[in-house]
Amino acid sequence: MKSRVALIAALSWSVDARSAVEPHVKRLNNGLGLKPALGWNSWNAGQCSAASAQFALDTANKFISLGLKDLGYEYINIDDCWSTKSRNATGHLVPDPGKWPNGIKAVADQIHAMGLKFGLYGCAGTLTCAGYPGSEGHELQDAQTLASWGVDYWKYDNCYTPCNGGRVQTCQSPQGNTRTWMTTMGTALEKSGRKIFYSLCQWGRDNVWTWGASVGNSWRMSVDNWNDWASVVRIASAAAGMSQYAGPGGFNDLDMMQLGNGKLTAAEERTHFGLWAMCKSPIILGNDLRKVSSATLAIIKNADLLAVNQDSLGKAATTFQPPGAPKPVSGQIYPYWAGPLSDGVVIGLVAASGAATLSVNFKDVPGLGSQSYSWKELYTGKTGTGTNISFSLSSHDMAVVKVKTK
Ligand SMILES: *[C@@H]1O[C@H](CO)[C@@H](O)[C@H](O)[C@H]1NC(C)=O
Ligand SMILES: *[C@@H]1O[C@H](CO)[C@@H](O)[C@H](O)[C@H]1NC(C)=O
Repeated sequence: MKSRVALIAALSWSVDARSAVEPHVKRLNNGLGLKPALGWNSWNAGQCSAASAQFALDTANKFISLGLKDLGYEYINIDDCWSTKSRNATGHLVPDPGKWPNGIKAVADQIHAMGLKFGLYGCAGTLTCAGYPGSEGHELQDAQTLASWGVDYWKYDNCYTPCNGGRVQTCQSPQGNTRTWMTTMGTALEKSGRKIFYSLCQWGRDNVWTWGASVGNSWRMSVDNWNDWASVVRIASAAAGMSQYAGPGGFNDLDMMQLGNGKLTAAEERTHFGLWAMCKSPIILGNDLRKVSSATLAIIKNADLLAVNQDSLGKAATTFQPPGAPKPVSGQIYPYWAGPLSDGVVIGLVAASGAATLSVNFKDVPGLGSQSYSWKELYTGKTGTGTNISFSLSSHDMAVVKVKTK
């Protein structure tokens, strides 16, 4: 979904995740998404022009040559604009022959042969966000088509769905209806006979975090990451309030990465990646890997951070308030974050409102006590042992500290 209209609408919502708990939600059990998805998507890298076989295969080759596959990056996902503008005579989606000269299946087969997985994009309404055929009324047929092509991941958008204002690209009303069509597609995918990772993209409507795990393997919890610091702040601050809904099989999706896309500073890239990793978001790269800088590559290849993201507990970090620290402010990134790991605790310190020296005593961190611990800061590699940590951070930078308890 790529509309500025939706951004404005979202800013006027107040996300009160804690108020709407569905306590006994039965998690989708399709065997997928036990850890947050790691991969790449074409949209942020080149919008419609990147939805091609060439871009998919170039990226798959880069996954291998840059060592990303060895680090666990797996999905090569093509976003909007991959099909022709109309279905064929039997109502099937048709790959644009200019972008997919040998069709989709040939590319999926090649990507599978490289040990990677292939994803596609669709939309719950009559049209996709960019105006290509949507799946409304064709859910079963489309799921069967995806299965026949060997698709492994399906991102399902929300444009041109039933709306109070008629069929428009992005619509935020009425509340309460997106679950219906997200579930219809999920059921169709289940019936397709292929295990397909189901990525819900209805922009955080209808408190999706409270029910998304029963329908899909991940759910977008906000409108888009617009490739600016304000988006990182808006999304990460909202994610702090919904950490309890993440778990193996279903994770809050903080949206695709914008590292390497020319807008974020190096410090901002570290905070974007570090918080997404700690919040157990899917990490779906959104840059052109044929042109990636060594600085960006160092962040996206940080094995320690990827291990935090992929930890087997699947528990998302959230904020904590040390004694004497100010209360969190809605819409701002709080400086102190922590979350449990299978062998320790990860602490995030974020200088979101300007250069700062941030310190914590381990006894004030959820999951830790007053003894001495060994720790490692995962961006600098600095290590230590003690009862507390302190980092001087430049504006918008963060430290991610893994504390070992086992
Ligand atoms: C429409 O596309 C599907 C899937 O690619 C194909 O199986 C079918 O034969 C096509 N129908 C027509 C009428 O070309
Ligand atoms: C923090 O750790 C240092 C050494 O690691 C120690 O000297 C200092 O007393 C500790 N501060 C607090 C408040 O515990």
